[in-house]
Amino acid sequence: MTSGTGAAAIELQNVVKRYPIRELPAVDGLSLSVPEGQFVALMGPSGSGKSTLLNLVGALDEASEGHIEVFGSTLDGLSDQGLTTFRRHTVGFVFQTFHLIPALNALENVMTPMIADRRQRKMIGKALEALRAVGLEGKESQLPGTLSGGEQQRVAMARALVMEPRLLLADEPTGNLDARTGDEIMTLIEDLHTSRGMTVLLATHDPAVALRADRVVGLIDGMLVTDVIVPEDMTAEELIADMGATSQPD
Ligand SMILES: Nc1ncnc2c1ncn2[C@@H]1O[C@H](COP(=O)(O)OP(=O)(O)OP(=O)(O)O)[C@@H](O)[C@H]1O
Ligand SMILES: [Mg+2]
Repeated sequence: MTSGTGAAAIELQNVVKRYPIRELPAVDGLSLSVPEGQFVALMGPSGSGKSTLLNLVGALDEASEGHIEVFGSTLDGLSDQGLTTFRRHTVGFVFQTFHLIPALNALENVMTPMIADRRQRKMIGKALEALRAVGLEGKESQLPGTLSGGEQQRVAMARALVMEPRLLLADEPTGNLDARTGDEIMTLIEDLHTSRGMTVLLATHDPAVALRADRVVGLIDGMLVTDVIVPEDMTAEELIADMGATSQPD
């Protein structure tokens, strides 16, 4: 585990997200500063706003109020073109259900973020390199349906990394995997964080996953209620005690 280097990667100030059909905001006046290079786990019961927060930081959704800055760019001020460039180059996303395109093989799935980028000649080489980085050499031509869950998540990781983003946003990346496979994916995320200095924001219900972060932030009802720096030797029981209700799944 490494700690941040000082400069802010993510800066949230009084961020509110309201959905039309929901009375209470999904994110309710949240402020958070994540230094560049820090690995932050988000915990909180179902419906506490973890996915909403990841979507806001990744510019997949727009805040109703407040201010969001990622590596010095103010998201609320970016044009549509600016947001597209931001999503393509600055962030990589990994989801619980992988979100791979079933009809494309592993290599083609990894190439999808580059298609709009007019770097066609380099695409295959970069995608092969990304698949190698996640340990999938030799599986390039397999369709997602012929890969195990862990392998599919590795393809999704390669796709998230192929544009070399500075920020990885991961929404319960181990939620659909067995403990051992989930552990392998977490080791991969940890390695990328350490070797590339990537900033990571990762939502999870699993204290063992959260323990691998530098810092664990707990949400309840869209509000930040706990913020813990993880000591090297912390146990899952100690983390659960520190996180209180935010470590409970429901
Ligand atoms: N598009 C939407 N329209 C209306 N309400 C939404 C929408 N997306 C999320 N919500 C609501 O916002 C709240 C926060 O949802 P969110 O998905 O962020 O929670 P979460 O912490 O990720 O939960 P989980 O652990 O189950 O994934 C929930 O009450 C949810 O129903
Ligand atoms: Mg969620």
